[in-house]
Amino acid sequence: MPETAPVIEARNLTRSFGGFVAVNNVDIKISAGTIHALIGPNGAGKSTLFNLLTKFLSPSSGQIFFKNRDITRMAPADIARLGLVRSFQISSVFPHLSAHENVRVSLQARERETFSFWKSDRCLKRFNDEASALLDSVGLADKARSKASELSYGRKRALELATTLALQPEVLLLDEPMAGMGTEDIGRTAALIRRVGEGRTVLMVEHNLGVVADLSDRITVLRRGEVIAEGSYVEVSSNSEVRKAYMGGAHA
Ligand SMILES: Nc1ncnc2c1ncn2[C@@H]1O[C@H](COP(=O)(O)OP(=O)(O)O)[C@@H](O)[C@H]1O
Ligand SMILES: [Mg+2]
Repeated sequence: MPETAPVIEARNLTRSFGGFVAVNNVDIKISAGTIHALIGPNGAGKSTLFNLLTKFLSPSSGQIFFKNRDITRMAPADIARLGLVRSFQISSVFPHLSAHENVRVSLQARERETFSFWKSDRCLKRFNDEASALLDSVGLADKARSKASELSYGRKRALELATTLALQPEVLLLDEPMAGMGTEDIGRTAALIRRVGEGRTVLMVEHNLGVVADLSDRITVLRRGEVIAEGSYVEVSSNSEVRKAYMGGAHA
């Protein structure tokens, strides 16, 4: 795949907790239109880097750019408005609303500028249809009326993805989208990520190396807060440093 302009770029990104350096001088570029995975053994700094790139954590030093614009000091809400949307955590899915209502809330949030319009019947119907279509696309058509709190873990993650997609993000940021899912949900979610990744940029942290191999255009491997390899799955999986980092079954 030819290299395209970076959508997200970090330079010399470092984050310490007390004296401990969790992310150490990381340079990374996420190219437009690619599915880019962050992998590495437990404690490698994947979530910390992800949280830095999505502005849920502030860096100790370094810079982050979104389409060449320095966003290092921007608030997460302002960044979401630029089109960089992080998958919601399950805790932000409204437990007492149905799956369908949850997706509708996101659709309405996307169009909150046109507040008066979406109160009209015609518009509510449009949201209803769009919410149904989104639920269908994540395999939740038959759970539309179920309360979010009553869904299984895997289905909650699928609902979370649907509410994120409702915002039509240009860049989709997923921290372990398959965590806690069974084989069937994993297959379906992988197919969904591939589909929604068309015409979008996706950055994901993922433990399941089969999924990573299958989906990713590019992979960055972290170990002890540092990038030790980057490339296609074939490239990084044949890298001796990567093999060493993963030895002893330290996949998790
Ligand atoms: N808020 C925090 N306070 C202190 N240490 C942290 C914090 N967050 C992460 N760490 C440490 O930073 C290292 C990297 O953590 P993390 O980014 O969660 O790794 P990964 O997601 O790759 O498993 C770990 O050693 C972890 O204990
Ligand atoms: Mg993590």
